[in-house]
Amino acid sequence: MIREKLAIDGGKPVRTEPLPLEFPGIHQMDEEESAAVLGVLKHRSLYRYYGIELQHEVEKFEAEFAQFLGVQHAVAVGSGTSALNVALTALRVGPGQEVVIPAYLWVSVAAAVVNQGAIPVIADIDESFCIDPADLEKRITPKTTGVIVVHMSGAPAANVLELLKVARAHELFVVEDCAQCAGGSVDGRKVGSFGDMGTFSFQMNKNLTSGEGGCVVANDLRLYRRAVAIQDVGFGRDEAGRMSFSDPELCLWGKGCRLDELRASILRVQLRKLPRTIGNMNRSKYRIRRALEKYPEVQLRKIADPTGDTGCFLISTYPAPDVAERVNAALRAEGIVTSPQGLSNIVMTRWGAHLYYNIVSLVDHTSVDGHGFPWNLAENAGLARDYHRGVCPVADSLFERSILIAIPSCLTEKDEDDIIHAFDKVLSTVLPMRSLIAVS
Ligand SMILES: Cc1ncc(COP(=O)(O)O)c(C=O)c1O
Repeated sequence: MIREKLAIDGGKPVRTEPLPLEFPGIHQMDEEESAAVLGVLKHRSLYRYYGIELQHEVEKFEAEFAQFLGVQHAVAVGSGTSALNVALTALRVGPGQEVVIPAYLWVSVAAAVVNQGAIPVIADIDESFCIDPADLEKRITPKTTGVIVVHMSGAPAANVLELLKVARAHELFVVEDCAQCAGGSVDGRKVGSFGDMGTFSFQMNKNLTSGEGGCVVANDLRLYRRAVAIQDVGFGRDEAGRMSFSDPELCLWGKGCRLDELRASILRVQLRKLPRTIGNMNRSKYRIRRALEKYPEVQLRKIADPTGDTGCFLISTYPAPDVAERVNAALRAEGIVTSPQGLSNIVMTRWGAHLYYNIVSLVDHTSVDGHGFPWNLAENAGLARDYHRGVCPVADSLFERSILIAIPSCLTEKDEDDIIHAFDKVLSTVLPMRSLIAVS
């Protein structure tokens, strides 16, 4: 192979046009979403429970989403964060409990546990970038009540069945946070259908989006009915959509995070397009992944079932942090970047509140009420609560040796060619140089 001079060393970059922004669902949006919203506006019925000419968009979305996932019940909510809050409340999480969460996550997962008055315990990840079942087992104490499995960066937790096995053996609840992996599956079974409850986000970066939005899913009717009351005002509803106090089991406290009809109408269209959205990303990602397989020094994320990977991110891992930094800087110089407001290509240590030790409020035990809640509650005395870098050595090492590249759902063949070309150019220069330095 003729080695080309790298752009970072003064050579010609592979491309100068920024790559498309991420935002999987947005790229598939067209007149269909506009027509759906206008339909709701035309009927002046924006609220899910009653209206002038109620179109039942939220209810229809919930039924369609549940069917798509293969679960019994779904209740749509205002965000992925509220979905987590609703699920943990439905599961009765509270003070004196430990809930295991992964080292690679989003801040909302930790926040949901802390806001309930419980204590999050961080478990390490493995090469799948999701919880390592062996480490989960180690973090369980008599105070542990559940685990939140987070399907990160578009791909389902490769070990989801093993994680379930560990959780079941210890009688823990399992919440699957599917915010970053809607439509993902393992051997044909969709994420969100494995655990006791599944949560989703439909914020703008997600596989299907209405700008903001979320959903809680469950197979258990009792849990679902609790979630329905909690996302609302805390009570059931009668046939006319009015508050009902007739069921004593559903006289709870509400979180007021209902989804509205406008956003549900968009989500119904986005759901129909989801197979295309994730099909595009999966195709692009695996074309690039296959091109990287010829480099033995490059470790690719462990994926249980490539056909069930939604494909929105590609993660590649290098033998040492300096190699990852050099590869990343060189790829960026080759034009493997997007517009400044987006994210396309970073070393994972720069991935903000996705890494446990970057969540300042967690590391510093910031209290919810300014008086130490939940950290200083008597019920939480003696529970583990260290969140500094070093608590999860495998994650710490993976983060500093890995590069995350967003795979938009509208990449052209030319975009993919450029990414592959840039990788070839960079890796064929950086990797041999490294082995030369190592033997010299
Ligand atoms: C894994 C994960 N969980 C929860 C959320 C929260 O979703 P939202 O932004 O809709 O509140 C996100 C959002 O990025 C996420 O990535």
